Amino acid sequence: MKKILEDIKNSSLAAVQSADDPSALEAVRVNYLGKKGSLTAVLKQMGSLSAEERPVIGQLANQVRSEIEEAIAKKAQALSEELLLRRLEEEKLDVTIPGTKVSVGKKHPMSIVLEEVVDIFTGMGYSVAEGPEVEYSANNFDKLNAPEGHPAREWSDTFYFREDSSVLLRPQTSPVQVRVMQTQKPPIRVIAPGRVYRKDEVDATHSPMFHQVEGLVVDKGITMGDLKGALNTLVQRLYGKDAKTRFRPHHFPFTEPSCEVDMQCFECQGAGCRVCKGEGWIEILGAGMVHPKVLEGCGIDTSVYSGFAFGVGLERLTLRRFNISDMRLLFENDMRFLNQF
Ligand code: PHE
Repeated sequence: MKKILEDIKNSSLAAVQSADDPSALEAVRVNYLGKKGSLTAVLKQMGSLSAEERPVIGQLANQVRSEIEEAIAKKAQALSEELLLRRLEEEKLDVTIPGTKVSVGKKHPMSIVLEEVVDIFTGMGYSVAEGPEVEYSANNFDKLNAPEGHPAREWSDTFYFREDSSVLLRPQTSPVQVRVMQTQKPPIRVIAPGRVYRKDEVDATHSPMFHQVEGLVVDKGITMGDLKGALNTLVQRLYGKDAKTRFRPHHFPFTEPSCEVDMQCFECQGAGCRVCKGEGWIEILGAGMVHPKVLEGCGIDTSVYSGFAFGVGLERLTLRRFNISDMRLLFENDMRFLNQF
């Protein structure tokens, strides 16, 4: 009996040591200590022992049992620590490895200038209005005092959608003036940035699609002086305090009087150079006092209200702002160019 118990002890302790995962260890336990286990089988035979042998063997058997149990518990502990270490090793995260850079891109130079323009005007109490790029001729011509037969309506300059010329791609942002005046009561102070389209060939200063920012102010007692103040503020905020403007008489059907506004050449300070083609000045926008016919046509009482409007080319503002010599650069999306801003 003693010998059997010794064998059980030795073989079970060896089995415990060589169990290399929790289920193997559990199998060892069942093998020796389970209901049909070998140690249990020995205990079952205790009855057949003599009265002197029984307590000795009994004590030995209990001792073997607790040694096996202890060995199993220790091994279980060791296995779970090993498992944890292995997981920590496998799931290790090196927080010092540099991350993958996500490029968020940059603002297009036109967006930079547009944001500046919007900022300047909202600072003066203007809000931003919008209108559709596909527009009615009524809003673009009739309501802007350019009736049937007016040279501005020529098919050669404008993209039309219909034979009857009633729908077009707007060639200017001025129809937004009409939309605003028909839906808002004075005092009105809005700017309306957006795309416009004309049948122009592409060159250094032209594109069939470009951008304008329309401005419209209608209130009591608005004069040409207010227009000059607003536009001088725009130019000086964009180009610096010393930037000078020049107002020249011009003609637009929807303003009276009308003017074009030049700014002094940033390159030669008015002396005349290649950039301004010897003029000393560069044209940047058209403007004027809103024609009474236009105001009345939109239901505004001209005995109470007057207003000014302007339309400025965003591409031109951007070229001047960053000294860019060719407008095509703004549309080519060459990253080597765009990354400079
Ligand atoms: N719409 C004119 C143009 O595109 C500019 C302009 C706007 C002139 C508002 C006067 C008033 O040339």
